[in-house]
Amino acid sequence: MKLWSGRFDSDSADITDEINSSIDFDCRLYAEDIEGSRAHAAMLAVQGIISPIDADKIIEGLDSILADIESGKISFTRDNEDIHMNIEALLTQRIGEAGKRLHTARSRNDQVALDIRLYLKKEIGQIDKLLRSLISVIADKAETGYDIIMPAYTHLQRAQPTTFAHYMMAYANMLRRDCTRLSDCLGRMDYSPLGSGALMSTTYPIDRRLGAQALGFRGITENSLDGVSDRDFAVELLSDLSIIMMHLSRFAEELILWSSWEFKFVEMDDAFSTGSSIMPQKKNPDVAELVRGKTGRVYGSLLSLLTVLKGLPLAYNKDMQEDKEPLLDAIDTVKLCLRAFAPMIATMKLRSENMRRAAAGGFINATDCADWLTKKGMPFRDAYTVTGKLVNHCIKEGKILEELSVDELRTFSPLFDESVYEAIKLENCVEARLAEGGPSRASVEAQLRSIREFLET
Ligand code: ARG
Repeated sequence: MKLWSGRFDSDSADITDEINSSIDFDCRLYAEDIEGSRAHAAMLAVQGIISPIDADKIIEGLDSILADIESGKISFTRDNEDIHMNIEALLTQRIGEAGKRLHTARSRNDQVALDIRLYLKKEIGQIDKLLRSLISVIADKAETGYDIIMPAYTHLQRAQPTTFAHYMMAYANMLRRDCTRLSDCLGRMDYSPLGSGALMSTTYPIDRRLGAQALGFRGITENSLDGVSDRDFAVELLSDLSIIMMHLSRFAEELILWSSWEFKFVEMDDAFSTGSSIMPQKKNPDVAELVRGKTGRVYGSLLSLLTVLKGLPLAYNKDMQEDKEPLLDAIDTVKLCLRAFAPMIATMKLRSENMRRAAAGGFINATDCADWLTKKGMPFRDAYTVTGKLVNHCIKEGKILEELSVDELRTFSPLFDESVYEAIKLENCVEARLAEGGPSRASVEAQLRSIREFLET
């Protein structure tokens, strides 16, 4: 029999139960639902709304239900629709009368808003940990690459030289921002909606702050209508998760390119590659490809929740039950990808000779040649034009800048002398970029220190 059957003359259709029930997925909120109910019962007793004896029975009953769920002794039923009503029904079965008093001064609307927040707060903590361990793996990898010269690209055309260490630190910085975004999100989420009731709070003399404090919230939501209608925090988390995936996907894309025979900058460990069912020679970077692919799924979750919410009048509407599956799926996906990414990076082999070779071939020291002329007194724009002509000449001759003799160079500008060769040596091009944020060793060491300090906070 349905909890709310008193109002009805006949049963709901099976198909109604099927579309209406959420227990198949919101069962994951069981621990948070119980945690919230414990705090609510304790508050009701302190405020004299239920007796301390009933509160004790409720709390004991909830604890025994929690233990039984965790040891797999409980199967939830669709008849009880969702996790909230399943647990309430189990409680009343176990402790009788007192169980029926738990829902005093509460609605499922503030209950579910509370449960999701509690759940997401925990998940944010776990995702933050996984992000930090990936950053730490990237930092370790970076440290092995101070002397590995490689080309950096714009338009996927070789642009200027850098080191593998510097390149890796770009990703470390992206992921550090992701951690700070999560903590901002957590800060705004950290207010308890409990006590908002169905939408207009309650006539009972509750103390909302007591419950919020017991549950570890920094405060309470300030408007009861907003308290039950707000899912901004979920949208915000999904945005943050989407940005994390966007970062992982860009990284994955580079690794896929770098694993190709055309680049061969890196080689994925066998443990993070797969073969082909027909082509015996294949070793594919599937893990990276799947991370790139799963990004679409997380973006989909964000868009799906935004769309669910866009036309909803205040306050609660059942549409809002559709928040859970995309949220849970996005969280699972991001955690899975982060768990796969870290060991994939840690075990990836670097082919530094190929990086060095690619760096040597693409005139990526042309800016340095122009800068050298500028430092000899030529205006930069003229130096830029002269160097452009040099490059054009080299391409026609099948040479690189370093291979031109001083005499040849002098036909382009009388300023050239022997010292230009030192200035356009790739190692020196990198080392001369001492500006903060640049690829010189000192600068990358500072970047690494900053990331390591962050990881310690
Ligand atoms: N299972 C519901 C959800 O996830 C709980 C809230 C139901 N409230 C209601 N008035 N029907 O949103």
